Amino acid sequence: MTAARTSRRRSAVPLVTASTLGLLLLAAAGFAAPAAAAAAADKANAAYSYCQANFPDPASYPLPSGSHAGAKLKQVQLITRHGDRTPVNIMPDDAATYNLCSEFAVSGMTSNDGSATLTQANVLKFPLLDKANPYQDAIWQGNCIDGQLTSKGITQLRTLGSQLRGIYVDKLKFLEGDYMPATPTLYARSTDYWRTQQSAESLLSGLFPTLKGELYPVPLHTVPSSAETMASNPGACPNLATVQALMSASAGWQNHLSSNQALLDRLNTAFDTDWQGGFDHFFDNLQVRTCNNLPLPCSRQNPGTPCVSAQDAQSTFALGDWEYAYTFLNYNQTVMAKLGIGAFSATLRDTLQSAVSGNKSQYNFYYYSGHDSTIGAVLGAFNISGWRWPPYASNIQIELWQDVNGEFFVRVFYNGDLQQLPACPSTECPASTWIAYMNTVIPSNFAADCMFDTRSRRFGHGH
Ligand SMILES: *[C@@H]1O[C@H](CO)[C@@H](O)[C@H](O)[C@H]1NC(C)=O
Ligand SMILES: *[C@@H]1O[C@H](CO)[C@@H](O)[C@H](O)[C@H]1NC(C)=O
Ligand SMILES: *[C@@H]1O[C@H](CO)[C@@H](O)[C@H](O)[C@H]1NC(C)=O
Repeated sequence: MTAARTSRRRSAVPLVTASTLGLLLLAAAGFAAPAAAAAAADKANAAYSYCQANFPDPASYPLPSGSHAGAKLKQVQLITRHGDRTPVNIMPDDAATYNLCSEFAVSGMTSNDGSATLTQANVLKFPLLDKANPYQDAIWQGNCIDGQLTSKGITQLRTLGSQLRGIYVDKLKFLEGDYMPATPTLYARSTDYWRTQQSAESLLSGLFPTLKGELYPVPLHTVPSSAETMASNPGACPNLATVQALMSASAGWQNHLSSNQALLDRLNTAFDTDWQGGFDHFFDNLQVRTCNNLPLPCSRQNPGTPCVSAQDAQSTFALGDWEYAYTFLNYNQTVMAKLGIGAFSATLRDTLQSAVSGNKSQYNFYYYSGHDSTIGAVLGAFNISGWRWPPYASNIQIELWQDVNGEFFVRVFYNGDLQQLPACPSTECPASTWIAYMNTVIPSNFAADCMFDTRSRRFGHGH
């Protein structure tokens, strides 16, 4: 998720300046048989594009039916990946020009006391990059910084927000048509990155078009990277680092590397890099170029050596998909889910449990803006298989419904398609079954499972 030029990162943790509260301006339902679930996965993969996820469609959005006909929606938890962005893994002396960021949404000033009043000037954040800067070559040419949400990415999240409006405002009348600043029913959270915050802002302006250009502040809750739970955080959970090292040393991963060493060497030569241990850096960089019609890289240090071929790019994409599935599903799934995303899974579980228990909350819609590694880890924790590297603007909806007999059930959508969790009897999963399953992928004692010593924890505020 962050720029890293030499060492590889896996599901890296945010390394961004801390802030505590950002203010943003501004089919048929029912009992899908396993065959139907497999057909849905086939359909999703047939339509797969890394460049943009499929979005939920109000026209085909299924309502609960059969014995669940007439059920009422009680709560939604929405998780998204940010939209199209520039690479976070950049090659030295990149010859491409990244003019992808013509539009800059507001990145609000922060108010650390949690007050929602606007006491400060609103500011816009503009990357200042130009040829007169003697250090400019260390980045690249163009109007974006590394890892920045592009104009296309902003549009993607706005479109997704507007599709969700079609469902939760227009069709179900579950959300009010406008954001209500004094009595909001929507809670928003983001990782502490500009691109995820801008993505949240963009989605919200599609969900509530009246927000656009208005000075309604939507509190966007963020956690300092040192305590982030929306992606794996080996710095906070030392045993995760240990298990990740075991994973890299495992026969499956080592075989993956040795079988593809020639490709890794060709890529490193063309990129003028020494990225070892996996393909994720190349995957990131090559996908950005492919999605934005930028040329594939050629070595500047070794002129005359072959540039990256389209075939090698495609092979890299397939190997990236393999790495994602291995990391989140095929290697030690329960342990990786517990240590990697267990704390966030606990948030999802507790939020749902609270509504089942009848606890009154002002919120009925919880929105979490994260990363590919957030989406992949949550799918892995749900033990959902058959997916590829989560595309830009990927989206997961976790819906809690109550049927006419008072029974609660849970539905999970991934990129618009209803999913059946292996632990559930159907796509409409009894809430108690869903919670019982989630308990198996959440540590009951984080200090013990993560192997941190609570007495030696330092208290800091990031950096
Ligand atoms: C799975 O993780 C546990 C750590 O909790 C470790 O002891 C075990 O060796 C791992 N399994 C494999 C196959 O590496
Ligand atoms: C419900 O609210 C009470 C009081 O705030 C709290 O103690 C309890 O843990 C909550 N239950 C759930 C399931 O969140
Ligand atoms: C996870 O899913 C696989 C099938 O994809 C299944 O064999 C396994 O039992 C599931 N694990 C749990 C804990 O549900």
